[in-house]
Amino acid sequence: MKKDLLTIMDLTAAEIASIFKLSTELKNNKKKFSKALAGKSLALIFQKPSNRTRVSFEVGMYQLGGNALYLSPNEINIGVRESIKDVAKTISRYVDGIVLRTFEHKNCLDMAASASVPIINGLSDFSHPCQALADLFTVKEKLKDLKKVLLAYVGDGNNVCNSLLFAAVKCGMSMNVASPKGYAPDEKVISQARIFAKETGSRINIFEDPLACVRGAQVVYTDVWASMGQEEEVNKRKIIFKDFQINSKLLSGADPKVLVMHCLPAHRGEEITDEVLDSKNSIVFDQAENRMHVQKAILIKLLKGEK
Ligand code: CP
Ligand code: NVA
Repeated sequence: MKKDLLTIMDLTAAEIASIFKLSTELKNNKKKFSKALAGKSLALIFQKPSNRTRVSFEVGMYQLGGNALYLSPNEINIGVRESIKDVAKTISRYVDGIVLRTFEHKNCLDMAASASVPIINGLSDFSHPCQALADLFTVKEKLKDLKKVLLAYVGDGNNVCNSLLFAAVKCGMSMNVASPKGYAPDEKVISQARIFAKETGSRINIFEDPLACVRGAQVVYTDVWASMGQEEEVNKRKIIFKDFQINSKLLSGADPKVLVMHCLPAHRGEEITDEVLDSKNSIVFDQAENRMHVQKAILIKLLKGEK
C-alpha cells in the first residue's frame, strides 16, 4: 500500500529515526545513492511560490538518478481547470510520487485519497512536515540528543509551528511556544501534541511572553509573521507581533550558545534582525541544506516503499 506524508502524525517515532539515519548516509555518501531512484519520476504541483522546497526536491531527485517535473499554479490550476480528483488520478498514471504545495490542507487529503502514488505535503496552511523533519535532523546533528533539547518557537502559531510541535513530541524534544494573544497554535494541535508528549517525555509550554519562552532554551526558532496567503494582514501583523522579534535583546535572556533557526524565507528586520540571522549562533543555512538530504531519504522510503 502507498504511504503518504501529509503531516508528521503520518510517521511513527521509529520511522522518523529511520529517515534521520538514512539522511545521514545520504549526506555523507552522495555517490552511493546516485541510482537509488533511477527510472522514477516525481511531480511537484505548487500553488504557492518556493525556493527551498522546489530546488531541494528537484535537485534531490536528480541526485538519486530520478526525474522531477515542476507544475506551476497556472499549469494545473487545481479545482479551476480540473478537479483535484482528476488531477490526482491522471498524474498517478505518469509519475511515482507527487509533492503538493497548497493552501487548504484538505487539498492534500483529497489528493492523497484519489492518487495511487504517495503524496508528500510540500507545505499547506496546516503543516510543513518536510521542514520539521529537516529542522529536527539539524538540531540532532548539532546537539545530538533531542530528548535533552528545549526549542523555543517565538512567533505565529502557523503551519511550521504545528509541524515542529508534532515532530518534537514524536522525538521526545521539549518545546516552548510564545505568540501574541489569538495567534497561538490551534488548541487541537496542542492537545494532540500533549498526548504524544506524555509517551515520549516532551514538555510543551505555551507563553505570551517571548522572554519567558526563550529562557533555558538551547534553540530559538521563528518564522514570518504573515504566511503565504495572509498578505492582506501584513501591516496589522507587524503591529501585533512587534514584541516577538528575535533580536539581541531577546537573546540576552537565552543561553549565549543558543542556536537560532528560521525555516526561511526571512523578512529581515521584522521577525528577525540581520544581526541575529547573520550571527555565529544562526544555523539557518545548515537547516536549509538539510531539507535536501532529509527529503532524499523521504523519497527513497516512499517511492520505493522501503520501511
Ligand atoms: N522553507 C521553505 O519551505 O522555503 P520555500 O518556501 O522557499 O520552499
Ligand atoms: N509559514 C510560512 C512558511 C514558509 C516556508 C508560510 O506558510 O508562508
